[in-house]
Amino acid sequence: MTAIERTGGRLLAISDLHIAHEENRKVLDGLRPDSDDDWLLVAGDVGEFAADVEWALRLLKERFSTVVWTPGNHELWTLRDDPVQLRGESRYRHLVEMCRRIGVITPEDPYPVWTGPGGPVTVAPLFLLYDYSFRPAGLSQREAMEWAHETGVVCTDEFFLHPDPHPSREAWCRARVEETERRLAARTPGVPTVLVNHFPLNAEPTRVLRHPQFAQWCGTELTRDWHLRHDARAVVYGHLHIPRTTWHDGVRFEEVSLGYPREWRRWDRPGSPLRTVLPVRGA
Ligand SMILES: [Fe+2]
Ligand SMILES: [Fe+2]
Repeated sequence: MTAIERTGGRLLAISDLHIAHEENRKVLDGLRPDSDDDWLLVAGDVGEFAADVEWALRLLKERFSTVVWTPGNHELWTLRDDPVQLRGESRYRHLVEMCRRIGVITPEDPYPVWTGPGGPVTVAPLFLLYDYSFRPAGLSQREAMEWAHETGVVCTDEFFLHPDPHPSREAWCRARVEETERRLAARTPGVPTVLVNHFPLNAEPTRVLRHPQFAQWCGTELTRDWHLRHDARAVVYGHLHIPRTTWHDGVRFEEVSLGYPREWRRWDRPGSPLRTVLPVRGA
């Protein structure tokens, strides 16, 4: 047994806790580490209200030695009855400052290195958003949006996720991609990564959506090869509410969402909703 293995612990992940739902708050309340060495990756959509997000992350940070968070689209909504009325970039920065106060790692912090079983890996929380490029081939962005409106499958982000001060959500996405690319290029060389993003890094996981119109709100083609380019040992994401493991070019993609009660009741999966990212079972 090596020194790394003796440290124990697991790299765990979950997303889409959606704690506005009381049943999901009960699930959150049941989340506990198996050991003091476990880390928890929280890949977005904790909730909509800034105070709720803080409450949930604070609770998790009291239990897990290290908590890493990246925002989902829901954290970035500005709802009328939230006392925090910040929009877009300033809302995101507000949430980052809150995380720093309570000791939760965000995409704006130095990437931590997991040295437990299955490591070392650089854990990179990413905030990349989407740019509507996961739309069907042959449709322009405008046509894809018209199709969504005609069929009544329009993501609520269109009403509540404001890109300020960026001119559009896609412009904010491009800025995030450029900045993140620089950060990833500057990471410790020779150490593989675990990439954590609310949205899938390529469009393949969206092919199984019941409403393919929704894919345009699910990521960006700009990151389609990031799992290869940035030497990912695993990619962790959520947003689709279709928890599963898929492989792309030999890289494991883990969709780790809890989802809404009506969804997770259907999965009928016994045990903890936390997904083990590392170590790989049987490895
Ligand atoms: Fe979600
Ligand atoms: Fe989401």
